[in-house]
Amino acid sequence: MKYLKTLDSMRHLNHSTFCKKQNENMRIILITFVGVVFGFLIGVSFPILLANKMTLSTVVLPDSTHIETSTISTRIITKEVNDARKIWVPSNPRGAEGLAPGIVVPHSDLYLRRLYGNPSEDLSIQPKYLVSFTVGYNQRQNIDAAVKKFSENFTILLFHYDNRASEWDEYEWSKKAIHISAQKQTKWWYAKRFLHPDVVAAYDYIFIWDEDLGVENFTAEEYIRLVKKHGLEISQPGLDPRRGLTWQMTRRREDREVHKKTEERPGWCKDPQLPPCAAFVEIMAPVFSRDAWRCVWHMIQNDLVHGWGLDLALQKCVKPAHEKIGVVDAQWIVHQGIPSLGSQGQADEGKQPWQGVRERCKLEWKMFQQRFANAEKNYNISMGIDPSNTTLH
Ligand SMILES: *[C@@H]1O[C@H](CO)[C@@H](O)[C@H](O)[C@H]1NC(C)=O
Ligand SMILES: *[C@@H]1O[C@H](CO)[C@@H](O)[C@H](O)[C@H]1NC(C)=O
Ligand SMILES: *[C@@H]1O[C@H](CO)[C@@H](O)[C@H](O)[C@H]1NC(C)=O
Ligand SMILES: *[C@@H]1O[C@H](CO)[C@@H](O)[C@H](O)[C@H]1NC(C)=O
Repeated sequence: MKYLKTLDSMRHLNHSTFCKKQNENMRIILITFVGVVFGFLIGVSFPILLANKMTLSTVVLPDSTHIETSTISTRIITKEVNDARKIWVPSNPRGAEGLAPGIVVPHSDLYLRRLYGNPSEDLSIQPKYLVSFTVGYNQRQNIDAAVKKFSENFTILLFHYDNRASEWDEYEWSKKAIHISAQKQTKWWYAKRFLHPDVVAAYDYIFIWDEDLGVENFTAEEYIRLVKKHGLEISQPGLDPRRGLTWQMTRRREDREVHKKTEERPGWCKDPQLPPCAAFVEIMAPVFSRDAWRCVWHMIQNDLVHGWGLDLALQKCVKPAHEKIGVVDAQWIVHQGIPSLGSQGQADEGKQPWQGVRERCKLEWKMFQQRFANAEKNYNISMGIDPSNTTLH
């Protein structure tokens, strides 16, 4: 256990120092902790922070073996080895510890590159935002209108659920968009598989949108400005109330830029700072900051593809949720409610395709709630918190 703890505390290596000293001699450092001996084979010399119990010892091994310890509670034996040059860098991503840090690239983006020329000159613009739409070809006019509301600072990503990706080339912008095609899958299925936080790490904000949104009164750049101004980590545009609404929270207010709380029908909110009265947006048009998405991605269940219940759980990913989740009223959209994916279901036992989809949605919602409650209960038990005393949310 202590060994692991020590490795953990070594995650603060100075990479540049590390690289500079790569060519130096190799040493084995044997560290004795409280009667237990741990062997560390260290490929190169670099500054290590060793936390042993309450004391912090700094071990620096530059040109000549030279050891500084702020508290000598740890016995350190240093031994020169000139053969077997082995790299082991615990601060590297898991699985890549054997690589020199200078060659490790943990993050990616969705920028398109050229096949020729100097790689450093490939990108004339590096979009800071990403917008994905889950689309069928029948919705192309709506998506064409939507895409035009997103400036060149956005990477456009289309997830095609009808395998008609190539037909979109009639639009000029489509040639520069990223297309991912897999038949009859949902937005959250794609998001879990293709929007891993390390893959979309280049983007400050990530829009994960449905295809049936009307955007006449929406401009993405202005939306981003407001999200930044009001410190929203998770947000959505206000919804035009004339098209019918499920929740009061997402109804567009005409008299303000942003709102973060609402009144609901009596008895709907146990806590005014929790969903659906605050800390809440829906799943049709969410926008995540990079950090919020890193958490939300982990919360998405691999097999629960409809994402029902996710909206009520988003608040677990940002603190304080009632301040960092909100609805942008000044840039608003119309939810047209075209049940496009619903009709992609399977007719079964005399039921319409959409009925089976709907039932699956509800089943997933229940499963998600149960998993969440079980996970928290098990965590509490593991932490020694008596679950009989706590109330379920
Ligand atoms: C794109 O981003 C840059 C840098 O933030 C900004 O100056 C520019 O105005 C943006 N483009 C549009 C169309 O808003
Ligand atoms: C919303 O957009 C439509 C179409 O461009 C426009 O006619 C209308 O005036 C806009 N509404 C508001 C409140 O800006
Ligand atoms: C777990 O413990 C926390 C803090 O005591 C409590 O708020 C929460 O309701 C508990 N959850 C469950 C499922 O027991
Ligand atoms: C939890 O339960 C124990 C006994 O079951 C009780 O002594 C304790 O006061 C309870 N704690 C709270 C916070 O209710």
